[in-house]
Amino acid sequence: MDSVLLNTINGKYSDRPPVWYMRQAGRVLPSYMKLREKYTFRQMMNDPELAADVTLLPVYDLGTDAAILFSDILVIPDAMGMGLEFTDKGPVFNKPLKDSNNPLAELNPDPDKLNYIYDAIDAIIRKRPENTPLIGFCGGPLTVLVYMIQGLSTNHSFPDAVKFIYQNKKDTLKIIEIITELSVEYLKKQAEHKADVFQLFETHAGLIPSDLYKEMFLPSVKKLYKTAADLHLPFIFFPKGFGTALSTITPEHCDYAGIDWQTDIFYARKILNPEIGIQGNLDPRLLFADKKVISDKIESYIDFGKENKNWIFNLGHGFIPGIPFENALFLTEKIKNTDWKRN
Ligand code: CP3
Repeated sequence: MDSVLLNTINGKYSDRPPVWYMRQAGRVLPSYMKLREKYTFRQMMNDPELAADVTLLPVYDLGTDAAILFSDILVIPDAMGMGLEFTDKGPVFNKPLKDSNNPLAELNPDPDKLNYIYDAIDAIIRKRPENTPLIGFCGGPLTVLVYMIQGLSTNHSFPDAVKFIYQNKKDTLKIIEIITELSVEYLKKQAEHKADVFQLFETHAGLIPSDLYKEMFLPSVKKLYKTAADLHLPFIFFPKGFGTALSTITPEHCDYAGIDWQTDIFYARKILNPEIGIQGNLDPRLLFADKKVISDKIESYIDFGKENKNWIFNLGHGFIPGIPFENALFLTEKIKNTDWKRN
């Protein structure tokens, strides 16, 4: 496939960085909002043809260099029988683990419950325009775990979940193992169905001290990466809020690290293992500013993009609801049309 993203990952550099966005399908596209009036999120995700169409919307509407599977990180606990509902206030579990006397007994992983997603991947591969790679994904072990324990996401510090981790370390390690096992299976199947790249969304990596993350969760990242590497599936790890702990990630954990908007990208490059590529890291909220501000900000990335030809442009977290579509489009075109001074 002749793709700027895949070529860049494989060391065949272009005159510009590839561009795609976390949460590029929902949230900013008028075409998505229109579909959302007719269908619920769950209906769109569960219907393979609809999910495929939504996956491809940003490729057509924004001109991104890749599509990311239209699904959610919480399909893993859903496939364990946790009773997931997507409400207006966000995802909610009927049986959060914090309310259970025997959390481990609540989990009944059934890998077949993920089969509808492989049908969606097949439909994407059939429908996608030429040279459009598909990014598959799953949630990082900590991020998935804290939703499972807390049950809902209105409080982003997940107080009961962090308390649970400290109070029930042994059970927590077992739950991490169960999450990891199903996620490994899920990753393998996504590769088998021809996803081209994989991203691990560890959105809540910053919730706990990094030494605890390293001890309890990083071995799970290593297992997932090993599975991907054995299948030659490029693997991007996005540990949001990891800060200076970026320096402890090694090529045993990922091919690329997604850098959040809190971290200076030059600093990230300095402390990150030189064999690991960088993806990131524009503050999505900058897209509420006017075009001149956006344009100047991209110009300020030129030095980085000139020196780092393996860089993948992305946001430092996903698109936010309310960002003007025209600014997202402007940004994409700006990335593609800027002279990155690589010759
Ligand atoms: O471009 C895409 O949107 C790709 C698909 C995708 C979704 N969620 C669709 C979705 C991806 C990659 C995710 C990841 C995800 N889901 C994360 C990690 C990344 C991040 O943004 O931090 C997390 C923490 C979740 C959990 C989740 N799912 C939350 C907190 C919510 C509530 C509202 C929201 O938009 O975040 C969801 C629901 C969800 N997932 C929606 C979409 C499009 C909104 C559903 C709706 O239209 O009501």
